[in-house]
Amino acid sequence: METKIFTTAEITAAATALKSGELVAFPTETVYGLGADALNEEAVKKVYAAKGRPSDNPLIVHVADLASVEKFVGTLPADFLTLAKAFWPGPLTMILPILAGSLSKAVTGGLTTCAFRMPDNAPTLALIKESGTVLVGPSANTSGKPSPTTAQHVYHDLKDKVAGILDDGPTRVGVESTVLDLSDLQRPTILRPGAITQGQIAAVLDKPVFLDGHLVKADETPKAPGMKYKHYSPNAEVYMMPFTATVADWQQAIASFPRQKVGVLANAELLSKLPAGPQFPLGEKADVRSGNRFLFAGLRQLDEEAEVILVETFPATEKSAAYLNRLGKASGGKTYQK
Ligand code: TXA
Ligand code: MG
Repeated sequence: METKIFTTAEITAAATALKSGELVAFPTETVYGLGADALNEEAVKKVYAAKGRPSDNPLIVHVADLASVEKFVGTLPADFLTLAKAFWPGPLTMILPILAGSLSKAVTGGLTTCAFRMPDNAPTLALIKESGTVLVGPSANTSGKPSPTTAQHVYHDLKDKVAGILDDGPTRVGVESTVLDLSDLQRPTILRPGAITQGQIAAVLDKPVFLDGHLVKADETPKAPGMKYKHYSPNAEVYMMPFTATVADWQQAIASFPRQKVGVLANAELLSKLPAGPQFPLGEKADVRSGNRFLFAGLRQLDEEAEVILVETFPATEKSAAYLNRLGKASGGKTYQK
């Protein structure tokens, strides 16, 4: 199958492909998603095959309006509505119990709940509306690769496995959405950190919000303890540099791998002070938001060019939780030590 790149002027053609059960990757503000008609079980099954994803790992249903969520959930809880009003469209995924049988097992992985999200991307909201359905959308990478933040990343991983990719340029946020479990309304719990923080959610709900003890790896389900899905594991050895590292510390670290190609993923200001070699800028200056935006693109590129990748970190705060979570997985938790 030849993969077509749809421009944002070709939404009707992309919607037609989705309606006929084909896969079309779509842009969001976080990462690109691998879209299929959530109501077409055969189409949803193709998503798992294209990604090489374990089929009991549930999918997020992407909607363009609240009425679509209501169809599967029934009466929408007040806390859900409050959060949707505050953060949708936006990088918050909410898990709710669904009406029995309203979504196939291919979507829910056999759970009695489903994750819903309204992405903040105008072409994709138009695509959902025009396709007249709701779309499953796991990150559009091969399982085990970093999530794609450009249409080119999707093409690299899924060329000839999907009918099309709707190209809206690089994504703005860069890490996947915050996943919030609302299936127990007494205990709203973050399963995966994202750009929307625990504090922001707690402030809007005006009640405590919990963090899951073992936060979801980028590609894992938390409700299936013991299941160990493969997460992103680069070929290169990835090390987190302590956020306190000075320029001299970085130089020392780079020099400490004399027989290997060392790639550096850090802000441009810092890169300009380091020896030439494979580099990828995490934005202009040290900043967590730019870090989120460029982390996956940088890991993808440097994994092609280097055998060791040293990556900038930030002090652990709510705002850096998503960055440190994703980088922690990619590095296997390794911090560089002299
Ligand atoms: O930003 C995002 O969320 C992107 C864009 C494309 O929307 N999508 C995304 O999907 O990251 P995916 O499938 O790669 O990650 C969804 C995560 C998985 O860790 C999955 O296990 C979890 O959410 N999840 C989905 N439904 C769930 C449910 N009912 N209960 C618990 N976890 C669930
Ligand atoms: Mg993913």
